[in-house]
Amino acid sequence: MTIADDKLRREIETLHQQIYDHNYRYYVLDDPSVTDADYDKLFQQLKKLEEKHPELISPDSPTQRVGAPPLKIFSNVTHSIPMLSLDNAFTEEDILAFDQRIHERLHIEAPIEYSCEPKLDGLAISLRYENGSLVQAATRGDGSVGEDVTDNIKTIRTVPLTLQGRNLPAVLEVRGEVFISKKSFNLLNEQAEARQEKTFANPRNAAAGSVRQLDSRITASRPLAIYCYGIGLVEGMKLPAKHSEVLACLSNWGLRVSPLIAVAQDAAGCLAYYQQMAKKRDALPYEIDGVVYKVNSLAEQERLGFVSRAPRWAIAHKFPAEEAHTIIEEVEFQVGRTGALTPVARLKPVHVHGVTISNATLHNMDEVRRKDIHIGDHVIVRRAGDVIPEVVSVITAKRSSQVRKIKLPKHCPVCHSAIEQIEGEAVARCTGKLFCSAQRKEAIRHFASRRAMNIEGLGDKLVEQLVDAGLVSSLADIYSLTLEQTANLERMGEKSAQNLFEEINKSKKTTFARFLYSLGIREVGEATAKQLALHFKTLQALQTASIESLQAVEDVGPVVAMHILHFFQEAHNREMIRKLLQAGIHWPKIEAGHQLPLQGKTFVLTGTLSAMTRDEAKEHLEKLGAKVAGSVSSKTSYVVAGVEAGSKLDKANKLGVAVLDEPALMKILSKR
Ligand code: IVH
Repeated sequence: MTIADDKLRREIETLHQQIYDHNYRYYVLDDPSVTDADYDKLFQQLKKLEEKHPELISPDSPTQRVGAPPLKIFSNVTHSIPMLSLDNAFTEEDILAFDQRIHERLHIEAPIEYSCEPKLDGLAISLRYENGSLVQAATRGDGSVGEDVTDNIKTIRTVPLTLQGRNLPAVLEVRGEVFISKKSFNLLNEQAEARQEKTFANPRNAAAGSVRQLDSRITASRPLAIYCYGIGLVEGMKLPAKHSEVLACLSNWGLRVSPLIAVAQDAAGCLAYYQQMAKKRDALPYEIDGVVYKVNSLAEQERLGFVSRAPRWAIAHKFPAEEAHTIIEEVEFQVGRTGALTPVARLKPVHVHGVTISNATLHNMDEVRRKDIHIGDHVIVRRAGDVIPEVVSVITAKRSSQVRKIKLPKHCPVCHSAIEQIEGEAVARCTGKLFCSAQRKEAIRHFASRRAMNIEGLGDKLVEQLVDAGLVSSLADIYSLTLEQTANLERMGEKSAQNLFEEINKSKKTTFARFLYSLGIREVGEATAKQLALHFKTLQALQTASIESLQAVEDVGPVVAMHILHFFQEAHNREMIRKLLQAGIHWPKIEAGHQLPLQGKTFVLTGTLSAMTRDEAKEHLEKLGAKVAGSVSSKTSYVVAGVEAGSKLDKANKLGVAVLDEPALMKILSKR
């Protein structure tokens, strides 16, 4: 090594150290000591040196957080110490019983000391440091085997790439929760909405979705953070006696630990902590779904051990379901693709743990009557997972004399056509069909959706614009749009217009089943469309099928057969199909007598797959002729269990249904 080389190395190292220190102060301590501009200067200096001497870029350089090129698939990581889950408790009695069990097992009468921690609602991650350098980050997966998400985790500013201080263990596996703030979550969703992309249902999904990106540059663009709450493997160092001291060590090494963690002297202290956190919860910038109590003594933890997948020495004390109290200010009726009218309550906006709810579905008029809901009522609304918020119940004690009855309109709120309600059906419908612009918009949205014609970029807002501007009034009009017309729309750049144009053209090459599904015939979902395509093979045969021959198809009963028949009887539908085909929509011929390799087999997918989404797996399997069902029964041929498979896997085991893991699925898909 020359003297110049050595000097350069030292210069780079000094920059690393300075930037780390500033990062630590800024991201972990929240207490920066330099201005952003000074920080940027140091960063640029380092970047320039590294550009000139790429051989000196070390993997833990602060410049390496930007993200690596996309991966095809995550590789598996076997955890050296399993990542466990926690038992849940909901009441004070549960906690007292937990404390009692611990006393009994340990034969201790004196109060037990606990570490009390917020239970963050994010994604569990294990970070492996060797000699102080981050070498691997993995998801929890099934607890034993997770996914290697190192590149992605490296983009998170609060994850140190190197640990600070002396006496670092040779190997350290730290466990923590990666999460996103409520504010960032809302912002992310607003941006997604503006781009007409799918939004995340909750901050946990947003964090998990961001970490499980094959392209770490996308992760880098998401504002993720971490709090560490424990350790797995440690080598080359003696641990302190208490969990709370371990956390203090982590913090000293530069890892971020929640400032809300406290030590309680006994179970009563834990319950007081719970109350304190429940009060704080809404004001916290991130979501917590409960608190965790852990026996503080590591020796006692060891004596207590584990039962199946959870430690005996810890428990999660969860907050109650996500409900809130608000008022129904108005009720409006939305018109769906088939004309179905859905009453939607406009609420006085209310926060339900990090998310503002201002609308809730009332489902249909039967539901409105059953729950006795009026405009002006005080109600309890519930947000659960990905589903649309709903009104759980009315607080009748608070009902004023001013409340108004919810009336089904006689005319469609959009096109003013008559509303009809068929005897015995809960749903009322607008009779305007495609004359109704709401139905038209929904029909076009459905046609363009991913599982139908898959026209990327033709999302809700654009459909709205195209219909309102009178550019598209029937499905076939999509294919006669000109580049100029689209480019002239508001908020539409030339590039996006060009992209849309290409997507529209691309969609012309499709399959018979997709085309059938995209027509939006009532009761003809994806599965039925596939059966119909396979059975009739040509559009001509399907269009001229009798009601009896339609019913010969699996899943097609008299009602569905009627809907199909009516659809093809309508002259304007036949005309629309003619125009679509004329525009160039085509699909490969389905061979007569053609038997697909997985014909007759039923699969159920559960858990998370790493190489593809469940939808993609479904598509691959169906291409091979398999049926993919939503629930397990004795008729199921195989259950494919990804990571964190739940009750469906249990059911498969109970019924003795064959279970495949992801590699086995990949083998089936690649062999055929
Ligand atoms: S301890 C052996 N502490 O909750 C102990 N978990 O429901 C295992 N979580 O998978 C976990 N905050 O992702 C622990 N302070 C905390 C936590 C926490 C959030 C998550 C974690 C775990 C899940 C279990």
